[in-house]
Amino acid sequence: MEPLRDRKIIVTGGPTREWLDTVRFLSNPSSGKMGVAIADEASAKAREIVFIHGAMDKALLANKSYRMIDIDTTVDLLNAVLSEIRDNSVLIMAAAPADFTPINKSKTKIKKENEELVIKLKKNPDILKTVAKIRAEGGIDNLFIVGFAAETEDMEFYALQKLREKNLDMICLNDVSRCDAGFGTDTNVITIFTRNRERIELPLLSK
Ligand code: PMT
Repeated sequence: MEPLRDRKIIVTGGPTREWLDTVRFLSNPSSGKMGVAIADEASAKAREIVFIHGAMDKALLANKSYRMIDIDTTVDLLNAVLSEIRDNSVLIMAAAPADFTPINKSKTKIKKENEELVIKLKKNPDILKTVAKIRAEGGIDNLFIVGFAAETEDMEFYALQKLREKNLDMICLNDVSRCDAGFGTDTNVITIFTRNRERIELPLLSK
C-alpha cells in the first residue's frame, strides 16, 4: 500500500437514525468516539481526511482541522461515502449504521391509542458491500476498504465472514460484550484480520 501521505482517508463514525415518525427513531448507542480517534490519528499522516458522522456529542467534534460531514440515516451515510471515495483513497467504516429502516414513516407523531404497535422494517443498503462492488466492477482504482465487526459471540467466525462477504481488505473485530470496549467507552479491544490472512490481536487500549 502507498504511504498514507499520498492518500485521502474517509473515516465514518457514530450511529445512524431511522425515523418512525417526526419525533421517534431507531438507532444504537455508538458515541462516535472510535471514529474521531481514527480521524485524529489519520489527520497527522494522510493528505486529506474527511470524517462522516452521525448524531454525536458536539464537544467531541470541537477544534478539528479536518473536514466533517454530518449525516442522519444509513442512506445519507451511503450517499456521503459514495460522494467522497476516489481512486487511491482509504475507507474506514467505524460507524454503526442501522441495518433496518421502517417501511412506512409517519409524517405526524404516531398516537399511542393502542396497547401494541407493529412496525414493519426493511433492510437498509449495505454501504461496505456497495462500495466493494463498485471497486470490483472497476469503478474505482486502488481503494483500500476497512470494516469493523461489532460482535458478542463466535466473534472470529463472524468477523472473518464479514471480511469475506463484504470483500474487505481489513476488518477490525470489536468485542462489544465487554464493559470496557465497544459502544460509548474510551477504551477498546480490537483484533485485526486482513485479506492476506494476517491476525493482529491488540490488548485493551484507548480508542
Ligand atoms: O462509536 P463508539 O461508541 O466509539 O463505538 C465504536 C463502535 C463499537 C461503533 C465501532 O468500533 C464498531 O464496531 N463499529 C461497527 C459497528 C457495526 O455496525 O458493526 P456490524 O458488525 O453490524 O457491521 C459490520 C461493518 O459493516 C461495519 O464496518 C459497519 O460500519 C458496516 N455496515 C453496517 C451496516 C450497513 N448497512 N452498512 C455497512 O457498511
